[in-house]
Amino acid sequence: MNPNQSLYDNLGGAEGLRRLVEVFYAKVQLHPQLSPLFPADITPVMEKQFQFLSQFFGGPALFSEQHGHPMMRARHMHVPITPERAEEWLDCMKAALEELGVSEPLRSVLLSRLSGPAHHFVNMPEE
Ligand code: HEM
Repeated sequence: MNPNQSLYDNLGGAEGLRRLVEVFYAKVQLHPQLSPLFPADITPVMEKQFQFLSQFFGGPALFSEQHGHPMMRARHMHVPITPERAEEWLDCMKAALEELGVSEPLRSVLLSRLSGPAHHFVNMPEE
């Protein structure tokens, strides 16, 4: 990990992020608790996630350019997110980072950056 570069660049820029999004959503779609939450056609979600993570990790502000202010918690209000599902989402991300061979400390830094929003998006108590 090069601390003088953005997380986006550390991940390998657009190409690395694209791969991460692909591997992550393949895992989400196989996850018994998470997959039913997503639309049948996951492609638009993947594209928006790519755009959002690009800016979230310090790369080009693609999401805001195309969709305005992220308001990401509000965009998840129609999704029943329990604390357990937030952890499962993060587990899929961890598994994707491992599968892609993203090494420490970058892997942990990325996960801890995502952990804040994931827990912040919880909008329903444990079932
Ligand atoms: C905490 C667990 C999470 C769950 C269960 C979850 C679930 C979902 C679902 C079901 C959608 C699709 C909504 C739809 O198309 O109707 C979605 C969209 C999205 N999620 Fe999440 N999400 C979680 C956390 C996160 C986190 C941590 C981020 C980013 C840091 C994120 C970024 C996005 C983006 C960018 C979209 C597309 C939003 C849009 O359509 O404008 N999500 N999420």
